[in-house]
Amino acid sequence: MISDITAARDAALAHIAQASSPDDVAAMTTRYAGKKGELAGLKKQLGSLESIDEKKAAGAAINEAIATVDAALDERRTAVAAAAVAAQVEAERLDLTEYIGKPARGHAHLVTQAWERLEDVFVGMGFRVAEGPEVETDWHNFEALNMGEGHPARGEFDTLFVDHVAPGGQPGSTLLRTHTSPVQIRTMLDQAPPIYIIAPGRVFRRDTPDATHMPVFHQIEGLVVDRDISMADLAGTIDAFTKAFFGKSWSSRLRPDYFPFTEPSAEFDIQRPDGSWIELGGCGMVHPNVLRAGGIDPEEYSGFAFGFGIDRMALMRHGVDDLRAMYADDMRFVEQF
Ligand code: DAH
Repeated sequence: MISDITAARDAALAHIAQASSPDDVAAMTTRYAGKKGELAGLKKQLGSLESIDEKKAAGAAINEAIATVDAALDERRTAVAAAAVAAQVEAERLDLTEYIGKPARGHAHLVTQAWERLEDVFVGMGFRVAEGPEVETDWHNFEALNMGEGHPARGEFDTLFVDHVAPGGQPGSTLLRTHTSPVQIRTMLDQAPPIYIIAPGRVFRRDTPDATHMPVFHQIEGLVVDRDISMADLAGTIDAFTKAFFGKSWSSRLRPDYFPFTEPSAEFDIQRPDGSWIELGGCGMVHPNVLRAGGIDPEEYSGFAFGFGIDRMALMRHGVDDLRAMYADDMRFVEQF
């Protein structure tokens, strides 16, 4: 009897030592411990023993075996639970080690880079950055800029109209802004002079994409309104900008031109160090009608404005000859910069 008990105990201990999961330990607890366990089952055989001494000795051996097996189960349960936690921690571990070497980093879009540099330069010159909506009213985009209904200059804008009628508005009076100039109007209506703002932004025209045109492109507008602002201030600002943005050996000039929202109006060109000229944008003294539309008295204040395309500046800077490449998201192109 005693040897049966010892054998059962040793078999149980050997088995328990191999338990590798909480489930294993639970199954073995049912099998070896408890009232219906294998060792408890041996107790039933005690009745077949002849002598009292033998019964006592066997009973004591069974109790001791049960206690030993219980202790082994407890120990195994704790060890297996700790291992399970360690495995989970390892599996869910976050690698927070600093990356050493050259990380695969992207960069801002070339137009965004140009946009941000323009902002930096103008902010450095004392301008504030203003914004306006991309979906505009006919009034802000044309009318208030001295292009009333039927003005021939409207035709040059290839306007995209939006199928939406603003409350109290006329059908066909909501559009995608064709230039950043409506931000001039919104800024004047928003704040009293002195005004020194630039407004970079996205603009839209009904154009077929080609090497130099996209239906969605970017412009930057400038507006200054203050007392005693003259054409000399405009020319000086354009030249200071040219030197700050392109370099000290660049210069600029104004050529007479026509825009409905400025009078007089000019085209401004910049000159490369090699002497060649590049046409950059339009500018002029803000037309009195435009100041009035913005709620500003033209007898008291005067101002100048300018506007030019950002996309072409990005093209020029990087020597890219097709605007469409800028928007094709081809990694072979993007990764060159
Ligand atoms: N809004 C004009 C365009 O899109 C550009 C422009 C010309 C802006 C003259 C101005 C300006 O502020 O004074 O073609």
